[in-house]
Amino acid sequence: MKILLGVCGGIAAYKSAELTRELRRRGATVQVIMTANAERFVTPLTFAALSGQQVMTSLWQPVNSDVATDEAHGFDIEHIRVTQDADLLVIAPATANFIATMAHGFSDDLLSSVCLAAKMPIIIAPAMNSNMWSHPATQSNLVTLRQRNVHIVAPGSGELACGMVGDGRMAEPMQIADHVFELGQRTSDLAGETILITAGGTREPIDAVRYVGNRSSGKMGFALAESALARGAKVILISASTAIPVPVGCDHLRVTTASELEQQVLTQLDRASMVIMAAAVSDYRVVSPATRKLKKQASLTLELTQTPDILRQVVQARAAGTLVVGFAAETENILEEGRRKLREKGVDMIVANDVSGSDTGFESDDNAGVILWEGGEVRLHRASKRSMAGRILDHLHGVRKESVTPGTDVPLARSPSSLDPIFSG
Ligand code: C5P
Repeated sequence: MKILLGVCGGIAAYKSAELTRELRRRGATVQVIMTANAERFVTPLTFAALSGQQVMTSLWQPVNSDVATDEAHGFDIEHIRVTQDADLLVIAPATANFIATMAHGFSDDLLSSVCLAAKMPIIIAPAMNSNMWSHPATQSNLVTLRQRNVHIVAPGSGELACGMVGDGRMAEPMQIADHVFELGQRTSDLAGETILITAGGTREPIDAVRYVGNRSSGKMGFALAESALARGAKVILISASTAIPVPVGCDHLRVTTASELEQQVLTQLDRASMVIMAAAVSDYRVVSPATRKLKKQASLTLELTQTPDILRQVVQARAAGTLVVGFAAETENILEEGRRKLREKGVDMIVANDVSGSDTGFESDDNAGVILWEGGEVRLHRASKRSMAGRILDHLHGVRKESVTPGTDVPLARSPSSLDPIFSG
């Protein structure tokens, strides 16, 4: 893969040096373009050494001067030529200013001109102060870019260079590289699908301030949403108690309790052609939550009752052809539990994930487990949630191709024989 890597002026530019390395390690060739401000943070020499190619920094200094006046091919204009050679344009870090530049179509330096001339897919990895990130101007520019099919690798949350803590830290180089290769391999195989994804853990009130909940972070569901968006799907994301940035470009609804989630899922179900229930729905709620804060006492007995099984209702209420995926968070007998749930819940696919350790599952950036459907089982070794999301969508897409002929109401027999190896223990 030939990648153009645009580096803007932000402290995260140093992480793009690592990104250059990682992209090359995975076999890509990388041509780096730096803005004038980027050069204040990292020298072109660093990127030249890591990419193995001279870095492009200006509209007015063509790198390849030999062909600049090649008469057979016409006058060689560098910022046009590079876009014709590359498979993908990656901007990392993308500053608030550069995002605005792209959204408004300015072309007053080399990188912005390349963006305007580019016909290939573009991925941006924003990095900025959290106030700048959440500013309506930035958010609206991001929506504009998303509508133009620019892929956005959402920033993470944490300590920022300005000393503040919040959203705006550029995604890690490995994560950006995952996006790049995912996009390079799959273009828009999910275009035409509307995927309803639930994420996060519901909270059931005990009183005005306390709740019964679980440790789900929502990272798996959000990774699925990002991955589905990148593959051309429309995404309706319903999230419960998450503290991570919402992927740009999805219809997003926030809920707190299982009952609110149930209501929203059933309301949105008609719009969806696929449903992925990644949310950790609390299995119990308090029968009579107090409306005020309860006074502290030596002991407290709560009466809990089961919450409605939303997944079962979705299976019963779905239109023909709507594929449904359930998750099973397990600490033991993962495969057996996954098989049982696939049988009993009537879903098209179960993702049974291992939540026994701290390295995978709840709150972690990684996950591991098995994917099961009627025609097969695949083990998922420990991997980032983003890369696991890609594999889940690969298999779901495989089930879709095998199961439903567009325009018919009757799902055909499912035997996705073309899919991955059968689980081998
Ligand atoms: O049976 P178990 O709770 O393990 O099933 C997990 C799956 O069921 C998940 O996909 C979860 O989102 C869904 N679920 C649900 N409603 C509940 C509990 C779980 O839809 N009340």
